Amino acid sequence: MQIFAIFYWFCLVISAKQYLFKSCEENGFCKRNIDYCRNKLQTKISNYFIEDAIEVGSEYAVISGLLTKKLPNSDVKLPFQLSFLENDNIRFTLDENRNVDLNINANRFKASEHVLPHELRLKDSTSITIHDGAEKILLLYKDFKIEVFVNETLQMTINEDKFLNLEHFRNESDNQQQLLPEESDFNMFRDNFKDSTSDKLPLGPESIGLDFNFVDFHNAYGIPEHSKGLKLEEEIYRLYNVDIFEYEVDSNLPMYGSIPFLLVSKPRLSMGLFWINSADTYINLSKPKSGAKTHWMSENGVLDFIIFFGESPAEVNKKYGEITGFPTLPQLFALGYHQCRWNYNDQKDLLEINSLFDEHQIPYDSIWLDIEYTDNKQYFTWNSNFPDPSGMLDELDLTGRNLIIIIDPHIKKGSKVSNHLQKNGLTLMNSENDTFYGHCWPGESLWVDSFNPGSQEYWDELHRLSPENKVFFDNTNIHLWNDMNEISVFDGPETSSPRDNLQYGGYEERSLHNLNGRKFHDMTYSSLSKRLESTQRQRPFVLTRSFFAGSQKSAAMWTGDNMSKWEYLKLSIPMLLNNGVAGMPFGGADVGGFFGNPSKDLLTRWYQTGIWYPFFRGHAHIDSRRREPWVPGEPYTSIIRDAINLRYTLLPEFYNAFRESSISGMPILKPLFYESQKFSKNYDIEDEFFLGNSGILVKPVTEETTKEVTIVFPDSEIYYDFTNGKISSRYHTQSVKVPVTLSDIPMVIKGGSIISRKMRYRRSSKLMNHDPYTLVVAPSSTNSASGSLYVDDYESFDYKNGSFLVANFELKNGKLTNKVTGTFNAPRRIEKILILNTHATKVEHDGASLRFKSIDGNLEIQNPGLHINEDWNIVIKKDLVHDEL
Ligand code: NOJ
Repeated sequence: MQIFAIFYWFCLVISAKQYLFKSCEENGFCKRNIDYCRNKLQTKISNYFIEDAIEVGSEYAVISGLLTKKLPNSDVKLPFQLSFLENDNIRFTLDENRNVDLNINANRFKASEHVLPHELRLKDSTSITIHDGAEKILLLYKDFKIEVFVNETLQMTINEDKFLNLEHFRNESDNQQQLLPEESDFNMFRDNFKDSTSDKLPLGPESIGLDFNFVDFHNAYGIPEHSKGLKLEEEIYRLYNVDIFEYEVDSNLPMYGSIPFLLVSKPRLSMGLFWINSADTYINLSKPKSGAKTHWMSENGVLDFIIFFGESPAEVNKKYGEITGFPTLPQLFALGYHQCRWNYNDQKDLLEINSLFDEHQIPYDSIWLDIEYTDNKQYFTWNSNFPDPSGMLDELDLTGRNLIIIIDPHIKKGSKVSNHLQKNGLTLMNSENDTFYGHCWPGESLWVDSFNPGSQEYWDELHRLSPENKVFFDNTNIHLWNDMNEISVFDGPETSSPRDNLQYGGYEERSLHNLNGRKFHDMTYSSLSKRLESTQRQRPFVLTRSFFAGSQKSAAMWTGDNMSKWEYLKLSIPMLLNNGVAGMPFGGADVGGFFGNPSKDLLTRWYQTGIWYPFFRGHAHIDSRRREPWVPGEPYTSIIRDAINLRYTLLPEFYNAFRESSISGMPILKPLFYESQKFSKNYDIEDEFFLGNSGILVKPVTEETTKEVTIVFPDSEIYYDFTNGKISSRYHTQSVKVPVTLSDIPMVIKGGSIISRKMRYRRSSKLMNHDPYTLVVAPSSTNSASGSLYVDDYESFDYKNGSFLVANFELKNGKLTNKVTGTFNAPRRIEKILILNTHATKVEHDGASLRFKSIDGNLEIQNPGLHINEDWNIVIKKDLVHDEL
């Protein structure tokens, strides 16, 4: 009965924007599935059976067969496959053979072909046991129910509630004979939602639905993007990429991106569910005492999912990343500060902003141009306000800075690019298979179809670097911003493409809708990565608004059009945390808020929070007043400068976190329950986070007039105040109250960490390349610490061939050592080593004494003559007296 209760409750909570977007009740396939599940809860009888012989292939790694769907007067046979993949992952697919003669592709769309590698490695056959004795046991019942046991305990059931539903192909004329008693025929062959009524629904009903129950799991996360908290609540969540204008906080409405990946976690076991489907999808989540129950419903496509298991959430992320790809390792500049607004008006304006940063001694790495730089919103052109774009790029390059320009997928009708796309059949088509036209920024526009391989070729040509290319010239410091790629169609249903539009391969847009944004930014990434000779290639930077599973491999995302209000500042943290949980950690929110004008306090607090976003960009709407860091004046500008400088001093740690994420899928902003799954409080905290594995724990101030914050510690290690090295938390302290003024950012360092910083002010990250390091050592309760520093050339792909180094620092038994792995030549000096809360009588390196000072109870070793690329050890003599705790 739980599902009913939630569903009706959901219908009562109608947000101001709800009327623009289909609720489940208004969306044919969702309503039918909910009706079906409601009836199923009463009948509890299965309509799906395994009647035919099952084939067991490659020594138990694959089980395949036919699932029978029993209709009142006939049966439908549906091919299924259950595979045991490497790393204990389990995959299930259910398809339908549709022999239908239509002028569109009638096969069910396989999103997996765009998300998974061609071949998934199956589990090593010798280590598989299906029925007993194994660590993980999976039982498949004849009436199609799957039970998953881990450590001899039931952890998950699939189709326990019998919500499995695959609406098989049928004609409208014989629909009544094809209906199950539990099925309703609501909007099976037409759509009666406001602006969707012209949808022809040529394949009729074709939805899929299935329930997954996670036994004793009370903490569920992921399935972004929603403007809600980190931990998922009882709610119907929708995944359908839309351009949501002025989105509200705490709403379950769909947003710009979708990742159908759910993580559940409890002490000693975490599980991930990846629903591989790119169509409109709803997930009904309820949380009865028995654990999280979910009902997944998609408008069409193959039913396809993978389940991942791990002891910790990070292990699940790793397994998910091994299949969908790990986040890209960006160039270092992409981790610096980005200055954007809609719009910098002309070349002079832009270059003035560039010099004002230097005048105010504030570092930044790239300046952005929004749509107004073009000639009449025709991408791949410059208007006359930018008479010498190449000269402008050269000027930025003098201080190692970059320009990022916007290019959207809508192309102005009648422009050179649109004519080419149209002539070569590279556009999104309408249901009659003619070029589709709709409205967006340029007025009447067509859309490039990024699924078409021909589009990639043309895109490559448009993005090529050469003096003859009057858009990109031969400047390498120009990168891309892809916006409106949900796709946004101002006069389209739910502000997007009509669902019966056609794309490459004859598939309807409805089948691949949520992949469209990703295909577009992938195409841009691919063009940018090819624009130089292979030996000189640099890592491209692409920002995307719309995303899907796999987007992490080629783009950063941001949370779209937020508002200059405190509640949006606060919301930005759980939204970005959830994106990280779902494998897409390179994200940010518009600093200052997109719509409106922030108060000076809000702007300052936003910078202090934004410095922690993996993607750190200030951006504002065209009607907002200017608000670059010097605009608010003192004391705000100095506080903002300090915050941005702090980000720059920590760039080595940000880069470490990105590197780690690029090989393990780890979030860059790490929720507390990733650090320790032991304490139940950690599962609920959404306003604190760690910066990767650095040991830096932050709780930004996100509420007006805050005088004090409470930092909750996830475990019983020592924590030090970041600013003075004083101990904030002794053993077993649960939390600490910290007084704050406007200039404070509450942050602590976990005992056991060694942090690498670069302390000198430079105008951009590139100019910091050869700067010396400061190491901050925070001894643990057992007087030990470790940390590593990853270094490469920060821009090329050479690291993929092993051209990098890792300095591994360790404090143990009174000795601080560095052991270097890797070959990259980075002879960078260490100018200071600061060991917190430590006294010494002598510090030696190679038998020679090193000069040191004791300042405020911390040990400071100045210019020790050491480098990060050499093995060394220093002995901290006599009493490495760790203050009594
Ligand atoms: C919508 C984007 O979300 C926003 O950031 C941008 O400024 C406008 N489009 C104009 O390009």
